[in-house]
Amino acid sequence: MARQGHTAWLFIAGLLLASSIASAQTSGDCGSASFQNGARTFQRCNTMAVLGASLHWTYHAENGTADIAFRAPQTSSGWVAWGINTQGSGMPGSSVFIASQDGAGAVSVTQTVLESTSPSLNPSTLRFRVPVAPSAEYANGVYTMFATIELPSNSTTQNTVWQAGSGNTASLGAHPTSGANLQSVQRLDFLSGQSTGASNSRLRRRNLHGILNAVSWGILIPLGAMIARYLRMFEAADPAWFYLHITCQLSGYILGVAGWGLGLKLGSESKGTTYDDHRNIGIAIFCLATLQVFALLLRPDKKNKYRVYWNAYHHSVGYSAIILSAVNIFKGLNILKPASGWKRSYIAILATLGGVALLLEAITWVIVIRRKKSNKSQYGGANGNGRA
Ligand SMILES: *[C@@H]1O[C@H](CO)[C@@H](O)[C@H](O)[C@H]1NC(C)=O
Ligand SMILES: *[C@@H]1O[C@H](CO)[C@@H](O)[C@H](O)[C@H]1NC(C)=O
Repeated sequence: MARQGHTAWLFIAGLLLASSIASAQTSGDCGSASFQNGARTFQRCNTMAVLGASLHWTYHAENGTADIAFRAPQTSSGWVAWGINTQGSGMPGSSVFIASQDGAGAVSVTQTVLESTSPSLNPSTLRFRVPVAPSAEYANGVYTMFATIELPSNSTTQNTVWQAGSGNTASLGAHPTSGANLQSVQRLDFLSGQSTGASNSRLRRRNLHGILNAVSWGILIPLGAMIARYLRMFEAADPAWFYLHITCQLSGYILGVAGWGLGLKLGSESKGTTYDDHRNIGIAIFCLATLQVFALLLRPDKKNKYRVYWNAYHHSVGYSAIILSAVNIFKGLNILKPASGWKRSYIAILATLGGVALLLEAITWVIVIRRKKSNKSQYGGANGNGRA
């Protein structure tokens, strides 16, 4: 069916967009970096996707160690950190090096294991060997931290994390918990230099969640509602509008539930940071939309006297779900903080749908009033029961 072809196309376009934002900027010009006035060099480097950071290293296969330099911009009243998560991915379980300054500008490195997302930052023994004491320097708004580590389990592929926040050595502040600061993880192969960013795991899934939900709840379902409201008044469009409406809503519902489930999974994986409003609104939208699917099965015949109540119920639940969806998509955009173009695009889509709806609403009323005047017996009404 043409409609399904269109939906599939939207879906594929969404996936392509999601993977392109996820895979952007993984390589860069880190090879020209100089360390300690050229006194130190590293064989490989990797420009990280976020926080302006880069990692430079030399891997020694014979003893499984890597000499590393982590470089990231920061103000003198902030800290930067880099580490390896030996337990999984993300922050909890990571063994990290934190470079910071005291009030006098002296730079030091703290080694600690982050046991949770609100960890104690007291120095502790890392979960891998650090054969050479780490050091750090700060110049021209950039920290550079040097360390030699024995790669955990003598594996060249590691889940790495990095971060930046404000505060000095005596009181390190928490880092921001949105946008780039939640995308600063990647799996890095110290042997080949290949990295699969957050893009490959969490960030990609977060983007996919955003795209699925914006396309389904944010576009397909309002479009389906508009089809039901405005197409039905054209006799020629009956019963086509009904099947278009069902196709839009069902494909929207299926994609939307997939996006919703992914969102719940992401939420359950994110131990420390929770977005209660976003989650609860999402659950409410799912319940309302599921009610709509069941409402379809219970729909009385159009001549049934209860049909008018069913219509009122179907419309109020539907419009509530659409309004909550728009609210929740903005909440999601504020959490994910993608490039500003995404928010603007969504606002443009919403404004277009809204503008078209307003125009059609006006046309509908003109047609309804004309029909009423010319032939009362054939009244179909904007909210009438146009389906034959
Ligand atoms: C590991 O091997 C490299 C190269 O042979 C050597 O330079 C380095 O000192 C060794 N590191 C340790 C901790 O043994
Ligand atoms: C690590 O693995 C390499 C081979 O990949 C081996 O040559 C080396 O001895 C191992 N090092 C340690 C400390 O186990």
